[in-house]
Amino acid sequence: MQNFVFHIPTKILFGRNTVPAIGPETAALGVRCLLVFGRGSCVRSGLLDRVRASLADAGVEVIEHGGVRSNPLLSHVRAGIDLAREHRVDVVVAVGGGSVIDEAKAISAGSLVAHDVWKFFTGRRSIKKTLPLTTVLTLAAAGSEMNSGMVITNEETREKFGTGNQLLYPRTSILDPEVTFTVPPDYTAYGAVDAIAHVLEFYMTTRDPDTPVQDRIMEGLIENAMTACDRCLADPRDYGGRASLMWTATLALNGLTAAGLGRVGFPMHMIEHSLSALYDVPHGAGLSAVIPGWLTWHSRQAPGRIAGLCRRLFPFPDMARCGEEELAARFITILRNWFGRINSPASLQELDIPADHIPEIARNAMALAKIWRLDDYTPEIIEEILHLCR
Ligand code: NZQ
Ligand code: ZN
Repeated sequence: MQNFVFHIPTKILFGRNTVPAIGPETAALGVRCLLVFGRGSCVRSGLLDRVRASLADAGVEVIEHGGVRSNPLLSHVRAGIDLAREHRVDVVVAVGGGSVIDEAKAISAGSLVAHDVWKFFTGRRSIKKTLPLTTVLTLAAAGSEMNSGMVITNEETREKFGTGNQLLYPRTSILDPEVTFTVPPDYTAYGAVDAIAHVLEFYMTTRDPDTPVQDRIMEGLIENAMTACDRCLADPRDYGGRASLMWTATLALNGLTAAGLGRVGFPMHMIEHSLSALYDVPHGAGLSAVIPGWLTWHSRQAPGRIAGLCRRLFPFPDMARCGEEELAARFITILRNWFGRINSPASLQELDIPADHIPEIARNAMALAKIWRLDDYTPEIIEEILHLCR
């Protein structure tokens, strides 16, 4: 196990009837907030009114910035920054999924600097200060509610880049599983796939062969994501299923699984971000199209870790007689079949992306490979992986 620092400064309020705490939690940080939300789900469910009422009761003045779209756009972030500056807000409140929280993070950092916010994403500037952020999570997926990352799409350059900084952790995040009862089946599935992808990335890219604590946590998270997703799809109002999926997704990318693994990478996300940037596919849908192909490519060089996952998660009677390649292939097939059952695309074809687009996708992905220092990845290797995603 490698040395690590594990410090998450986010307070989590988890469970039923926690939404009314957003007012007092925010009032402790400022008097005028920018309230950031998406394209209508929280209006239709009545959640936004509950948040507004709680903020008003706590004496927090509200400036609204709605309309954040999935795969949030840089132009909309810039509009939010203008609004935050114009009204001199001192705190940001996000009500939504990963897209809304990420945009709120970008606004909280971008409104305090004279330069353009995109420079944070290209690595040309680093974040030195941010406005405090509180969140009400509405979708189990990205983990942004308890981590220091943010992902934004620059629609002019067609780049979807992510970056991270300690100052981006939300101060308080409210996780009420009942708020996610209205998440439709497709995004419920994509959220579970995203959580699984976050675990798989670290599980596969650590170079430390002796991390049993982390391994058992990660295997448990994958198992829970699958079981909880199945429960939520069978009954969208299954509180236990929604609660399990929500906490699983949060823990999958809050630093817990990575602590002690040493340097890990996000190669599947690097490729997926290009699918979202070029074709605007939902993040989890893009990931489920990439995961089987990337795992197949990876298993050709190192089948051991994937075989281990098969042994732990999907044991069967004659397992001991199987070689690592066979077990790895079995795991990939089980995962691909499960993607099929939850209606998440398992190939580029299912996303209607033709084979002759592969070189352009690989070119696009290389920009992020450089920023994320995924030095082993060349355009040729990414093309090879993308062909395996067909
Ligand atoms: O806009 P509204 O109307 O709210 O609809 C949203 C959106 O269409 C809907 N939704 C959210 N909560 C709902 C709901 N519908 C009904 N009931 C509810 N309670 O769901 C759709 C998807 O929402 P979105 O926020 O886009 O999904 P997700 O949470 O998966 O976030 C995706 C974004 O997060 C980034 C992704 O790249 C993508 O841009 N990621 C952020 C990460 C981070 N900050 O650490 C890491 C991840 O790997 C990921 O890259
Ligand atoms: Zn993700």
